Amino acid sequence: MSKETPKLIYNRLSKVYDECYNEPIHTIENDFVFKYLLDNGFLEGKVLDVGSGTGIVLENIDLSPENYFGLDISESMLEISKSKFPKHFFFKGNMSNMPFEDNSFDSVISLFGSFSYSLNHSKTVQEIERVLKTNGKFFVMIYGRKYSSRESYILNKFNITSPATFFNHKEIKSLFSRFNKKKIFGITWFSDSLSKYISPRFIKFIFNLEHRLFSSFFPDNFYFITISGQKNAKTL
Ligand SMILES: C[S@@+](CC[C@H](N)C(=O)[O-])C[C@H]1O[C@@H](n2cnc3c(N)ncnc32)[C@H](O)[C@@H]1O
Repeated sequence: MSKETPKLIYNRLSKVYDECYNEPIHTIENDFVFKYLLDNGFLEGKVLDVGSGTGIVLENIDLSPENYFGLDISESMLEISKSKFPKHFFFKGNMSNMPFEDNSFDSVISLFGSFSYSLNHSKTVQEIERVLKTNGKFFVMIYGRKYSSRESYILNKFNITSPATFFNHKEIKSLFSRFNKKKIFGITWFSDSLSKYISPRFIKFIFNLEHRLFSSFFPDNFYFITISGQKNAKTL
């Protein structure tokens, strides 16, 4: 049986997407990611959110329509984000051929695995570089190898064969090799499997502990692998 395209899958899942990600571990992941983005300047100036989904960024952070722009390939995901945030701009398009001018954004972010659905990862990285201004920053959160078996992965819940690519950190590093100031770390390891048995406060404690102790040294053990960096004049 041939795999469905990411666009068709997310068109089909858009209405149940938000309710699939409402467990305590997901709230802890969101709180961590958005605090990290704020504290490290990834939400300053003109920000492009690649694979914006149902509008998770604006649900967590109050960014103005001049500062935030979403891009997604699925009409149904876009319909939901637009209905939640009618004043903001959400564009329909493919991350490997973005409908934006060169040097348009101060920051490009892509959260919770959207990048993994690109059908041409090298071209997507080139597009991130192209649309970023010089000195612009990016933060991309990619499915690690382990994510394919995560119980709460929406495609696993609906028994859909995933068309996503599940990476290790060396592959990610090599894809983004042209950028400067690169940093790689993982998000969510054993806090996820423990989350069935322990209280949200304790899950958060374990989540922070695994982050502090292991996320930079053993990123491949984590569900998500993140990479951040900067476009420098020398990379052009
Ligand atoms: C796992 S969801 C993540 C959505 C959002 N970032 C979040 O954290 O809730 C992946 C999103 O990527 C979008 N997507 C998949 N392939 C894409 C592509 N080639 N270009 C742009 N968006 C794409 C899907 O439509 C979907 O909304």
